[in-house]
Amino acid sequence: MQHFTPKKVSQLFSLNNDPMILSEFKPSTRQKQGLFEKDLFTIDDVQKIGECKGFFKRPQRPMVMTFFTTKGGVFKTTLALNVARMSALHNIRTCIVGLDVQGDITLAMGVLPQESEEGEINDVLNRYDEVKGIYDIFTGRSQVSQLLLDSDIPGLKVIPETPELVAMADAIAGMNRREYWLKEKVIAPLKLMFDLIIIDCSPNWNRLTTNALMASDILVSPLECKINNFRNLKIYRRMLEEFQNDMQIDLPVLFVPTRYAANKKLSCDIRDWYQSNLEQVSPVGIRESTAVEESMALRVSLLEHRASGEILCEMKQVLSWLASECLSRSEDVTNINSLDGQASSLAKKTGISYQSQLL
Ligand SMILES: Nc1ncnc2c1ncn2[C@@H]1O[C@H](COP(=O)(O)OP(=O)(O)O)[C@@H](O)[C@H]1O
Ligand SMILES: [Mg+2]
Repeated sequence: MQHFTPKKVSQLFSLNNDPMILSEFKPSTRQKQGLFEKDLFTIDDVQKIGECKGFFKRPQRPMVMTFFTTKGGVFKTTLALNVARMSALHNIRTCIVGLDVQGDITLAMGVLPQESEEGEINDVLNRYDEVKGIYDIFTGRSQVSQLLLDSDIPGLKVIPETPELVAMADAIAGMNRREYWLKEKVIAPLKLMFDLIIIDCSPNWNRLTTNALMASDILVSPLECKINNFRNLKIYRRMLEEFQNDMQIDLPVLFVPTRYAANKKLSCDIRDWYQSNLEQVSPVGIRESTAVEESMALRVSLLEHRASGEILCEMKQVLSWLASECLSRSEDVTNINSLDGQASSLAKKTGISYQSQLL
């Protein structure tokens, strides 16, 4: 069982190491550390403290935040994992849905049977074979609640990526209301169980991605601070705009500049350009840093791993910004419902099923 020192808890929730803030919470355990006994918080304590004092507030209604852009290696999975773990540490019921067949977030969450586990190879392989994914919903073999894997944080669950995802994108293409499959069959039941649903997409514009966008309340797109990305950005924004027009949705897109090199002028200039020229962009970017790679290798968020440094300040600011955007949009119920209504009334009027001609 994981235990947390008061210092660590303070670090997690940016409490400035102020003992007064934590004094109202009693640590549940004492442990011997060297000659002394130390009061330590359990993970349940930490979640209570996070809920009262942290920077991530529970959304007013269940929210779906999707991480997607048409580029790989730009920290989509990293940001998705950091948001999900921090949200769960704030006692917000959170579910990660992996939609990238590479399975990065499933691996990073460590929810699959591990190679290092004890036991016969056949046992491990069998357990691996039994892991279910959204394909099992598609075939009618499982219900959503049967797919949820536990993580090391209570209340944080994962629907893992399985190899069958490869076939799914094509299989959905032949269905009625094909852009709504994920929203109706997977996300709707998850919204009854969770406050926040995080979808981690592959960099491909395919049917799984469009399904994720249709099911989302917020799209988070990391933007690499590299010169060749300017052109990508233009095309990407146009593609999103056409998709939204076509599908009659109004999906907020939040941009996060990533992979900037703090010691390279051009890279910092690109980051600044994003920040001055895009409407919804995070207040800071996320730099290249080995600390984040280490935290991913250890399967934790950066704030759980690291106590200080500029990268930590950046990650905190980005997470706080995403959390506050999520909260404020969750308060705006009228917008979302009326948009769904608009789309369906338009479809009724024109007699056209509102599916994208683009796709
Ligand atoms: N701030 C960072 N600096 C350097 N490497 C990072 C940072 N954040 C993440 N990484 C590493 O970069 C790689 C790509 O990140 P990832 O989040 O998987 O990208 P994507 O999901 O967009 O393909 C991963 O190996 C990850 O551990
Ligand atoms: Mg990824």
